[in-house]
Amino acid sequence: MIVYDEEKRVFKLDSKNVSYLLGVYDEGFLVNLYFGPSVPDTDVWYLVERGGSASFSANPPAFEIGDRPAISPDAMLMEYPCYGTGDCRVTALEITDADGCPPTDLRYKSHRIVKGKPPLKGLPSTYANPDDVCDTLEITLTDPKTGVEAVLSYSVFENHPVIVRSARIVNSSSAPVTLNRVYSACFDLPDMDKEFIHAYGRHNYERVIDSQPLHRGLQGIRSVRGSSSHNHNPFAVLRDADATEETGVCRGFSLVYSGNYSCEIECDYNATTRLLFGIEPDGFSWLLEPGEEFQTPEVVAVCSAEGVGGMSRAFHRFYSNNLIRGKWKTEKRPLLINSWEGTYFDFDEEKIYNYAKYAKSIGIELMVMDDGWFGHRNDDRSSLGDWYVNENKLRGGLAPLVKRINELGVKFGIWFEPEMISPDSDLYRAHPDWAIHTDGRDRSLGRHELVLDMTRKEVRDCIFDQMDAILSSCNISYVKWDFNRNLTEAASMTLPKERRREFMHRYVLGVYELMGRLTKAYPDLLLENCSGGGGRFDPGMLAFSPQIWCSDNTDPIARLEIQFGTSLIYPASTMGAHVSMNPRAGFVTKGNVALWGTFGFELNPAHVTEDDLKVFSSQVEEYHKYYGLIRDGDLYRLLSPSDSLKRACWEFVSQDKKEALVTYVTVYVDPLDSYVLKLRGLDADKIYTDEETGKKYSGALLMNAGLNILSRPLESGESFKIHLIEEQK
Ligand code: DGJ
Repeated sequence: MIVYDEEKRVFKLDSKNVSYLLGVYDEGFLVNLYFGPSVPDTDVWYLVERGGSASFSANPPAFEIGDRPAISPDAMLMEYPCYGTGDCRVTALEITDADGCPPTDLRYKSHRIVKGKPPLKGLPSTYANPDDVCDTLEITLTDPKTGVEAVLSYSVFENHPVIVRSARIVNSSSAPVTLNRVYSACFDLPDMDKEFIHAYGRHNYERVIDSQPLHRGLQGIRSVRGSSSHNHNPFAVLRDADATEETGVCRGFSLVYSGNYSCEIECDYNATTRLLFGIEPDGFSWLLEPGEEFQTPEVVAVCSAEGVGGMSRAFHRFYSNNLIRGKWKTEKRPLLINSWEGTYFDFDEEKIYNYAKYAKSIGIELMVMDDGWFGHRNDDRSSLGDWYVNENKLRGGLAPLVKRINELGVKFGIWFEPEMISPDSDLYRAHPDWAIHTDGRDRSLGRHELVLDMTRKEVRDCIFDQMDAILSSCNISYVKWDFNRNLTEAASMTLPKERRREFMHRYVLGVYELMGRLTKAYPDLLLENCSGGGGRFDPGMLAFSPQIWCSDNTDPIARLEIQFGTSLIYPASTMGAHVSMNPRAGFVTKGNVALWGTFGFELNPAHVTEDDLKVFSSQVEEYHKYYGLIRDGDLYRLLSPSDSLKRACWEFVSQDKKEALVTYVTVYVDPLDSYVLKLRGLDADKIYTDEETGKKYSGALLMNAGLNILSRPLESGESFKIHLIEEQK
């Protein structure tokens, strides 16, 4: 619900369990008054009084009249601070005006409240379902000198503890201006007594959790790689210092965007925290001609009073219900086997067919043929951009192979890397200018590839047409969309000079357009995103592909940290996870870890023993048995692998609390291990039966005394599951 108290000039936004208050201060400054657990009040202007101003803080002349106590914009909690007119912290907006001057100023002009949540032009965004109660507030601010307007958008949801924010800059003046920095949102918080948690990593080790107390000065995360990247996932968590995994106030901020981004945090002398989130300003600017507008990506902000775990569960529900879309939002996903780790580039049509036959024999539903089926690609040095079948490898072509596989009762999936071009490709020989480059500079290679200029429509059309030709040639149910390098020398020589710094954002818009076109043309297609594993695991991609390959690292022990970090924001249904031949642990543990995600296999069936086969068959059964519980249940992270490096444990509890699945993995055995495992999220009054032993426990006992796991001795790398079901009366 959104109300505007006209007398107090206060907006009160309420989502489930969360309030967000902002007000129009003197001279039209839009200031933040509160963002936290629900409060009933609107009489909150007393909160604006903060400890003086920073050194030499300047004020608009009207503040200097008489002896009224003025609060400088430098010391208030600002809603969308601007560069160069008083607020000397990091700012959300800097515009160079037609006179070449960067000072920027925004004051309240008007507002409107609309039902639902309007989509963002050109960008993926969260949405309201027909049965969601959702309202959106749009506040228009205007720059007194140029007349440029900023429309700040805030959406609230009755069933989710989220506030979704974005900004749209409109050049309503008669002269061109340039945006030098345009963040999606600013969150000014009145204290800095918090831990800053984020997930860092690299290829093969994505989304490892890092947690540090906030400190005075600047800190933050960003990407200038052209994608959200392996290195820092585009989310930030601010956990109150006295909060824990399951208690206390925790705020999370997640950017729905897949390109260069920045989350900049400044804690000032006044002990306030400013968090800016949006497009990375380095290398960026955007020319706005009169009448043009610029839409930022959106930030989803969650506030939970149930610690980090409560915040994660809120993101999981919101992203599952209000970001992921299309058929695969609700439809059961097929259990797949992928050829990559089993065969790499070395396959032919018989090998792929045999994979599928094997898949069928243990109940796998989808066979995915990974990299190597097109052009003359036998290693990673050629053919990207030549998306036609290599008939020397797949003799007889694709359609007969897919038909044979379908006749087994197995679906077929295929790999593309649509944004890339190999210098050794027909496409490059025909169109060398289609690869991203800056005239006069070398073209840096990454994995022997160049990147296509996705800002150009003719490039996107060519790639779409080639993909379309393949997808319409036979019955293809699934596409793995890969992306395996950073962008460099990033400019488009086809853009006018004054627009070349727009390239990185235009690139992402081009990718979204192409993905949108593909998913629209093939609405039944299951799209799985991938970027050298999980290098583009972000909410922008989730709007097109409901699952993303988490990591090329399929070692189940390493995966624990990767999946724990991923789960801070992303639901289990999005996390691509497979059982592979990785030697680190046995197949039982590999299966238990992969069950947390989408679950599938990535190995060569020819290398599997009869005993392994039995384990796989039972894992296939478990996949079906626990599918609903894991997909729709609430996640509780009970023991984190990074706390002790000894064990990890997580639990899914069904929404009706009738069922729970606990998975426990020993990383390495330690004689000082604790044997009591307290569960979470159960109904204290229910009686649960351990399906395996038949032992009964009350929910209260399981949560307060816990399970004694002494009876389950484990070696390093071993694991077990406990399935608890409410006793039937
Ligand atoms: C990187 C991906 O992460 C792998 O799963 C695989 O698809 C390879 N690319 C293929 O080149």
